[in-house]
Amino acid sequence: MNLAREVLRSEEEIAQRITQLGRQITSDLEGKELAVLGVLKGSFVFVADLIRSIRLPLQVGFLEITHSQKSDYLTEILFYSSFRVEGTNLLIVEDILDTGITLAYLQEQLAARGPRSIRICTFLDKPDRRKVDIQPDYVGFPVPNLHVVGYGLDYEGRFRNLPYLGYVQ
Ligand code: IMP
Ligand code: MG
Repeated sequence: MNLAREVLRSEEEIAQRITQLGRQITSDLEGKELAVLGVLKGSFVFVADLIRSIRLPLQVGFLEITHSQKSDYLTEILFYSSFRVEGTNLLIVEDILDTGITLAYLQEQLAARGPRSIRICTFLDKPDRRKVDIQPDYVGFPVPNLHVVGYGLDYEGRFRNLPYLGYVQ
């Protein structure tokens, strides 16, 4: 398994897109306070950059979920950060929207905790792979049906530290 030479998205492209996303989120939620909830592990790099492009008061938390080995369906939220979801303007931040099962599950679980609003921001979107209907509010980049790595995303736990977005083959 080799890392392809092709860079799907360069560091510069990523930085520019995140600046745009931050501006859009700032203007959409003007006058409000945000609760940013990143889905570990893949989103941690994106969250770190995204929050610094949002000019609103905000708090940050993370959660991690486990996937069932037997099916695509999820089993549980592994851990859950300390802020209260109730009454917040929640922004769920994911690395990649693939089948949509993860985000659909999280949206349902978090909605039950009574946030004022829920928005979804995903760094990447693989629309061809969707199994459940889910509409993200903010998408960094659409990507083709490849296993992408870097900028927080892994293949078997590796490559999260690449500063750009590539793919394995
Ligand atoms: P979904 O529930 O199928 O939407 O799964 C999304 C999760 O699968 C993401 O949070 C990633 O952890 C993982 N994933 C899906 N595609 C890729 C990829 O191309 N590279 C790295 N992780 C991926
Ligand atoms: Mg993930």
